[in-house]
Amino acid sequence: MPVLDTFDRPLRTLRVSVTDRCNLRCLYCMPEAEYVWLPRADLLSFEEIDRLVGIFVGEGVGRVRLTGGEPLLRRDLPRLVARLAARPGLAERALTTNGVHLAASAAALRGAGLERVTVSLDTLRADRFERLSRSRELPAVLAGIEAATATFGAIKIDTVVIRGENDDELIDLVAFAGRAKAEIRFIEYMDVGGATHWSASRVVPRAEILARLDAALGPVTAIGRPDAAPASRYALASGQIVGVIASTTDPFCADCDRARLTADGQLFTCLYATRGVDLRGPLRAAASDADVAAIIRGVWQARADRGAEARLAVEGRTSFIARDALKAQPHLEMHTRGG
Ligand code: GTP
Ligand code: 5AD
Ligand code: SF4
Repeated sequence: MPVLDTFDRPLRTLRVSVTDRCNLRCLYCMPEAEYVWLPRADLLSFEEIDRLVGIFVGEGVGRVRLTGGEPLLRRDLPRLVARLAARPGLAERALTTNGVHLAASAAALRGAGLERVTVSLDTLRADRFERLSRSRELPAVLAGIEAATATFGAIKIDTVVIRGENDDELIDLVAFAGRAKAEIRFIEYMDVGGATHWSASRVVPRAEILARLDAALGPVTAIGRPDAAPASRYALASGQIVGVIASTTDPFCADCDRARLTADGQLFTCLYATRGVDLRGPLRAAASDADVAAIIRGVWQARADRGAEARLAVEGRTSFIARDALKAQPHLEMHTRGG
């Protein structure tokens, strides 16, 4: 039986950040200006991650997603995947990557037992890619998508939509995903704090995204949101499936089943949580699996987070988009928290 939190939400999914480092500098994901990378010794080793995942599996987790920073910067990642693939009870291993190093590693990851890949892609234009990510790696990302599609069959593409930056590319991105046989998901721009310069006026709400798809590509039909999944899914007139993750205007807190483990072994129960609970300390102080399991169970049972919803409630749901800015969100780094 999975452990339940104070809203009766089970713990089923674990996102594991394997490094806080990243080779891109995406506008929407900038950590604090003074952010200093974690020293190597602070990172969980693969052995430690594997052991923790085993303990989480014992508490009901069936799906693990590896994230970063950029997870492919962690050397030998397929070795971790292979360890996780050998864990009975873990039904699924997925990866979220920016794609830059994907072409080189797709086959090894698949061979090690990775099932699914999501690649972030916000633009198809080289000049914009450079502005949005401060890098010139668009060709590498496109090659990574091609290699991953060839290796994994179908992949997902995640696009953060930002008004005035890439919101005129929705139709081009849908066409690209269609050709790549990928399911594209448009994500509302979230305020993750740090130096991201988020403002409500730059969020393109789900309703507007759908209206634009409808106007350009014909009727859009809602086909639902699977249990605890962030994306609501839609069929276009062509039959192509598109997802929208309304993280900002309609968050999925009510059935959120995710825990997050940072690269240095902190357990967070919400993307917007400001404090985690250290698991690395006990692990390195020779705690038993049962001791660590008890910590995890205790944290989850005490979990009350509905972070994204709580923020909407403060602002008033209907007036949200009209407001220019939300009040400052305390310090939240996607880099260490893993998307
Ligand atoms: P699969 O169903 O395993 O394919 O993964 P997923 O659809 O759950 O995707 P993933 O976990 O990669 O999340 C996709 C995007 O949703 C992230 O990149 C974030 O932008 C957003 N997201 C993920 N988790 C949360 C969350 O807990 N809260 C909010 N508000 N947004 C989230
Ligand atoms: N808003 C929405 N999504 C974000 N991500 C990171 N920062 C943000 C943000 N501010 C998610 C995107 C990206 C992945 C690495 O993390 O999905 O593709
Ligand atoms: Fe889950 Fe917190 Fe995100 Fe809501 S804001 S979906 S509770 S992680």
